[in-house]
Amino acid sequence: MVVRIASKICIVYYSRTGNTEYIVGIIRRALNDAGIEVDTYRVQPVREYSKPLHLNPRVLFDTLMRGGTTTMFDPGEPAIEQCSAVIAASPIWMGTLAPPVQEFLRKYTASVRHLIVVTTSVLAASCSKIKRRVEKLRGAEPALCVNIDGSMIRDRTKVDSILSSVIGRLKDILR
Ligand SMILES: Cc1cc2nc3c(=O)[nH]c(=O)nc-3n(C[C@H](O)[C@H](O)[C@H](O)COP(=O)(O)O)c2cc1C
Repeated sequence: MVVRIASKICIVYYSRTGNTEYIVGIIRRALNDAGIEVDTYRVQPVREYSKPLHLNPRVLFDTLMRGGTTTMFDPGEPAIEQCSAVIAASPIWMGTLAPPVQEFLRKYTASVRHLIVVTTSVLAASCSKIKRRVEKLRGAEPALCVNIDGSMIRDRTKVDSILSSVIGRLKDILR
């Protein structure tokens, strides 16, 4: 039996090559299956970064120095005040969050009570470092941070196991 919970989760994500978008799709379906309404927003730079990304000086500057970039949202600006909890999902770039997600966190999430950060990466990434970065951007650490690295992302059992902590936490928040 599906238990209906009259609350909404908002997912805001950036994905340059599809990995984070894939994980967001899994989270969204798991939440929907639990009867939870989800609004999904894609955030991206107004001027998307051109390849080769690792050699793009704007990537380096925005990621490590500016800590953001001018962004736009699809399908539109997120209605954050209507979200019971927010998931911010990002690829790891240079050990931290990609610039569009940094910008989103700084501008939109200062008063978000329940924030969960989900990242994807090639190598194992440090959630404590990500938490500190998030605290710098919005004034508070996220409630939870999980990373899915390249050794896990193609293994659906592992992905589901990591994401179970996210789904479980959201169910607790909405209870
Ligand atoms: C500019 C750039 C920097 C990256 N830096 C890291 C890094 O520091 N550590 C890591 O494990 N992966 C790094 N990656 C790999 C991405 O985090 C990884 O491929 C991620 O899953 C991509 O997500 P996406 O497909 O949603 O864009 C980097 C990728 C790019 C393009």
